[in-house]
Amino acid sequence: MNLRIDDYTYFKKKIKDLLGIDLDGYKDEQIKRRVGVLMNRIGAKDFISFYKAIENDLQLRKDFIDKVTINVSEFFRNPEQFELLKDKIIPGLVDRFGSVKIWSAGCSYGNEPYSAAIILDELKIKNFTLLATDIDDEALYKAKEGIYKIEELKGISQERMSRYFLKLDETRYKIVDSIRLSVKFNRLDLLRDLYPKGMHLILCRNVIIYFTQEAKEYVFKNISESLTAGGLLFLGNTERIFNPEKFKLRLVDLFFYEKVM
Ligand SMILES: C[S@@+](CC[C@H](N)C(=O)[O-])C[C@H]1O[C@@H](n2cnc3c(N)ncnc32)[C@H](O)[C@@H]1O
Repeated sequence: MNLRIDDYTYFKKKIKDLLGIDLDGYKDEQIKRRVGVLMNRIGAKDFISFYKAIENDLQLRKDFIDKVTINVSEFFRNPEQFELLKDKIIPGLVDRFGSVKIWSAGCSYGNEPYSAAIILDELKIKNFTLLATDIDDEALYKAKEGIYKIEELKGISQERMSRYFLKLDETRYKIVDSIRLSVKFNRLDLLRDLYPKGMHLILCRNVIIYFTQEAKEYVFKNISESLTAGGLLFLGNTERIFNPEKFKLRLVDLFFYEKVM
């Protein structure tokens, strides 16, 4: 019997030990395709030599994390959903619970939690907590800084730009401190770490698309346990839960699931 593990399996184990990223939760084909670009760039013939290169080259390590994490984000991504959040979902949660505890899970550069913070400010809601987490330390660093290039801000209305962003120079803007400091950023790996409890609204958008079915189910189960009964999960536009009742969730609006008792 041949017990030798294939070199991608070996690579995944070594990456988990080195970087704490569990590639078992991500679709193999996606990762292999994305990482293949880097392997070609450095001429790595297999995953074992690629791992050795990552071990020795900090820039390559960063590039590898970038390929795995895919940080693409936008302010008010899918604006009609954010309007729904502002007009109905958040006011409804505040009416019901008296305050609102929000978690942006997989927050990337902060665009998503800051969009939520802007809405809360516009609604004059003061009684809230806003937690934002990601696996990627570099993305979190940028998120905390709250500095964005002008092209990252397209789609934001003039009114919001003048109220919530300060011009630093010709190309960069910084989100105002009242919004920036209202968000608490933390590193949290959705596949390894403990989830916070008692949430009223969890935004987990465009994160699980890269996960295996097993990893998705793990995340849905834990998100459901993180939500208070009556709390809501907000998914990305291409994401669905096909069997929400399995996780004590029910679809209440496109992309919104409510935690049931
Ligand atoms: C495409 S971005 C989505 C950003 C934002 N939620 C949005 O929809 O615009 C995906 C984010 O998920 C993060 N991510 C990937 N795997 C993760 C994991 N296991 N735990 C936590 N975050 C993860 C990535 O680092 C990346 O910042």
